[in-house]
Amino acid sequence: MLNRRNFLTAAIGVAAAGTLAACAKEDGGSSTSSGGSKTITLGFSQVGSESGWRSANTDSVKSAAKEAGYNLKFSDAQQKQENQISAIRSYIAQKVDVIAFSPVVVTGWDAVLKEAKAAKIPVVLTDRSVETSDQSLYVTLVGSDFTDEGRRAARILEKVLTKAGHKGAVKIAQLEGTTGAAPAIERAKGFKEVMDADHADDWKIVVSQTGDFTRAGGKQVMAAFLQSNPDVNVLFAHNDDMAIGAIQSIEAAGKKPGKDILIVSIDGVKDGFVAMSEGKINAIVECNPLLGPQLMDVVKKVKNGESVERWIKTKEGDYMQDQAKAALPSRKY
Ligand code: AHR
Repeated sequence: MLNRRNFLTAAIGVAAAGTLAACAKEDGGSSTSSGGSKTITLGFSQVGSESGWRSANTDSVKSAAKEAGYNLKFSDAQQKQENQISAIRSYIAQKVDVIAFSPVVVTGWDAVLKEAKAAKIPVVLTDRSVETSDQSLYVTLVGSDFTDEGRRAARILEKVLTKAGHKGAVKIAQLEGTTGAAPAIERAKGFKEVMDADHADDWKIVVSQTGDFTRAGGKQVMAAFLQSNPDVNVLFAHNDDMAIGAIQSIEAAGKKPGKDILIVSIDGVKDGFVAMSEGKINAIVECNPLLGPQLMDVVKKVKNGESVERWIKTKEGDYMQDQAKAALPSRKY
């Protein structure tokens, strides 16, 4: 798949933004505000509502659009690519000013993105990337570096193992995100990169399967893992929701999450921090869902033909269990 590090330079992004915005329609989806300026109409296709992260992301997009005074057309694809493609086609038909979407999977977008380009509607990716041979099909990506999140998860696991005084083989169960989704592919890749470089002898992923980023998926898949591999001593979950579901199965199997099975997950949603403050998750790598304000800013720039970077990366931190109680009250999502 396209390595996000290999994205074209900001300069090319600037050119793409300028070209698309210059071509963007001045009529169609736009209405006029009381101040006389055109109200920006933004068509946004959300992945679904699979996780706490997603709910926070949806709230952030909706409130930021309201705050910016945009006319937001929002649709929830229920984690189905065909629903996202239909939503994008409908935004093209409605002649919105800008289309933004968080692609459920990385592949299969070229046809619909070409339709948006032919209609001269700029596309902004948010949260997740796509794999495309034609980089001009979207202007920019506003979102996290998932490969780095995977690396950070492996590095924080080193700390967790040291803190727990763990000796001997590290037998890892991996709960993957949605198959084919950028965060699932890239988090697994980043984690494996560190593992292969520094832990080829002592760490092993003994079992790995998708839990589709949901609590129910995490619970069900972890129960199966514990049956097939009762000796796993580490869980790497690609998001907090799957970790929380897995905790239920670990407890049902008579084991202590955070002790018998050390757990590292990604996101940093409030429920993840609650589980961490209860000693059930050992560390969390943050993935910030509050992308709304940045997205609205980018949409405005793109609409006005201003330059934007090719990839606007989200800032995030890492948290060990002993930081959870202090951090919990100030968590915003
Ligand atoms: O794309 C971001 C990921 O999608 C989050 O980590 C996960 O919780 C969500 O479902």
